[in-house]
Amino acid sequence: AQAVPSLWGIPLKYISLVTLALQNSLLTIIMHYSRVSSPPSRAYSAATAVLMNELLKGGISLLIAFSRIELPSTPQASYRDISQTTPYPTSRLVSARIRRLWKDVFSADCWKLSIPAILYVIQNNLQYVAASNLDAATFQVSYQMKILTTAGFSVLLLRKRLAPTQWLALLFLAIGVGIVQIQGSTSHSTAMINDMNAMKGFLAVAAACFTSGLAGVYFEMVLKNSQADLWVRNVQLSLFSLLPAIAPILYDHASEGFGAFSTLFRNFGFWAWSTVLVQVLGGLITAMVIKYSDNILKGFATSLSIVISFLASVALFNFQMTFTFVLGSVVVLIATWLYNQQPKPKPNILVTTTDH
Ligand code: C5P
Repeated sequence: AQAVPSLWGIPLKYISLVTLALQNSLLTIIMHYSRVSSPPSRAYSAATAVLMNELLKGGISLLIAFSRIELPSTPQASYRDISQTTPYPTSRLVSARIRRLWKDVFSADCWKLSIPAILYVIQNNLQYVAASNLDAATFQVSYQMKILTTAGFSVLLLRKRLAPTQWLALLFLAIGVGIVQIQGSTSHSTAMINDMNAMKGFLAVAAACFTSGLAGVYFEMVLKNSQADLWVRNVQLSLFSLLPAIAPILYDHASEGFGAFSTLFRNFGFWAWSTVLVQVLGGLITAMVIKYSDNILKGFATSLSIVISFLASVALFNFQMTFTFVLGSVVVLIATWLYNQQPKPKPNILVTTTDH
């Protein structure tokens, strides 16, 4: 039997799920704070933040992928041009590793990552729109609708079968989010002060839920239908993200020429960098969660973070917790719990799907 990957004896599956729950709460709060703590005229560029996120995440994934390369014990087993019989001399070891990594990253099927890459870039931009226009807690709860889209795409793309109680749980989820939205649209605590537009925020969340479900399930499908290393897949994802991440920046600054570079980081202070770093962490953990468990469990971990975000929002942003908000959130949490009350899907489901 295959050994379960673990760190200090704890399975990576649980470490990554708990870390993801904490990271999600932190990101919701920091991102919201970084957007509303200064007037819109002094806001930092979300497009720059998304690009920095991809560059940092890609760089870290590249280093990890590089360190994980396993070369054959004797060089000539696969590299004819290296004529040593026993261990590699250091210089050759490095160049052999670089060549191996290059081959892995630019493999024949690397194009598959272009689809989730584009979707994630759109999603990461939408998140900033949502975080700028909704209370941190309202954003967090509404974003749970991605469990619904994830389930839908799992059924469609992975041919996953859902039990009747799971469909019921999805219905509850939709109702719960609906209740929270009612409260969101009647709450004026911070909306008037900071120019927030709840409708715009909800539309951004709805679109982000769609891309989250599709991109997550697609990434899971690519990852579990091939032998390629997770970190190589992450590098491919980041590479394909670069173009859509740079495009809006070029579009916005086309008239400024090279001078645009200095404006990219205008107002990009401590909180903007903190948001980017927490998002980088989230991307890396999300990839591990998808690898070691699945997208549905990922939804469970993130909805746990609702509770943490609630309490923090009350303390930090003077968020008014109304009865409808608590009711809606409780319904969302119960729905998530109900969804996970099912026996785990058989692992061979993924193996039997066709290669996309
Ligand atoms: O909300 P959701 O869980 O769909 O967010 C996933 C986040 O994780 C996105 O910001 C996406 O860019 C990131 N991600 C990543 N690497 C992966 C999968 C997701 O950076 N392999």
